[in-house]
Amino acid sequence: MQDRAGFEEFVRQLPKAELHVHLEGTLEPELMLALAERNGIAAPFPDVDTARAAYDFADLQSFLDLYYAGADVLRTEQDFYDLTRAYLTRAAQEGIRHVEPFFDPQTHVVRGVPFGVALAGILLALEDAEEDFGITYRLIMCFLRDMPADDATHTLHTARLYPHRIAGVGLDSAELGNPPEKFAGVFAEAAELGYRRVAHAGEEGPASFITDALDMLGVERIDHGVRCLDDPAVVARLVAERVPLTVCPLSNVKLRVFDEMAAHPLKRMMDAGLLVTVNSDDPAYFGGYLTENFMAVADALDLTLADMTALAKNSFAASFIDDALKATYIAEVDAYSAGA
Ligand code: ADE
Ligand code: ZN
Repeated sequence: MQDRAGFEEFVRQLPKAELHVHLEGTLEPELMLALAERNGIAAPFPDVDTARAAYDFADLQSFLDLYYAGADVLRTEQDFYDLTRAYLTRAAQEGIRHVEPFFDPQTHVVRGVPFGVALAGILLALEDAEEDFGITYRLIMCFLRDMPADDATHTLHTARLYPHRIAGVGLDSAELGNPPEKFAGVFAEAAELGYRRVAHAGEEGPASFITDALDMLGVERIDHGVRCLDDPAVVARLVAERVPLTVCPLSNVKLRVFDEMAAHPLKRMMDAGLLVTVNSDDPAYFGGYLTENFMAVADALDLTLADMTALAKNSFAASFIDDALKATYIAEVDAYSAGA
């Protein structure tokens, strides 16, 4: 049996995919302050320590208020490049081979930052990281569910100016009061246009939002989905249909979805036969990147190296890459764990 440091090193180098990370949520306070200065605007916090001390959340909305305030420093293509490059540089150092990151175009467009400015910076950084680190990617744009559905449709139409650059659409922001059905029309149009579809569901909202996201939005993957355990019929369906769930343990505890990591249902979800993956969500705000998320559940729930390997394989199985590339990455996980 390895000691904890050896276990952590195994996890850090384990080949993994990250399928649930908001690029705006990777904005570390240091970069936030630097970008505010570069752009000649006021930062939301006077210094890094004040920022980190403020990252103490009561629920999803209290986090979102700070997350949107932080994103306001992102103004230029270079800002989006620097943000994305910083995340991908860290990702490369922790065994991440493939990413399917989110960005929130409406957050920027409402502030006067054009869609194309944010997209260009993000894509350039993704292309560079593929070349420099070999990290493959599929970019997903999320619609903000607390904005009108018409605005999401407008965003989808703007994205048509950039064909084949965005692989999928998602749905994020305040879940309560904004059920999946509100976005049925725009998701139907996205499907016709060939976009892959995911949605946050069952994070703070009820298990029925998971079913509704599958039935009304046609999503292929559920982000979070932890509330599925409230309804055995929803669990049974997710297992039968092999619907992946992108679970974010540190996020769930920081946003008080669960009181403590020991109460996190990840192990129960694995035992139930669900196709779960581990992800960081908004790592700059929640106290850890992907390795810290794996370690948090390993420590609290007594997970084994075999569990870590299974979660890493799930991350590729649940991704939007083709079957040949999935097989390549999963073989890499097998070779890595056989040599450990
Ligand atoms: N936007 C960024 N992180 C989010 C989360 N965890 N839930 C909903 N919207 C988000
Ligand atoms: Zn999220």
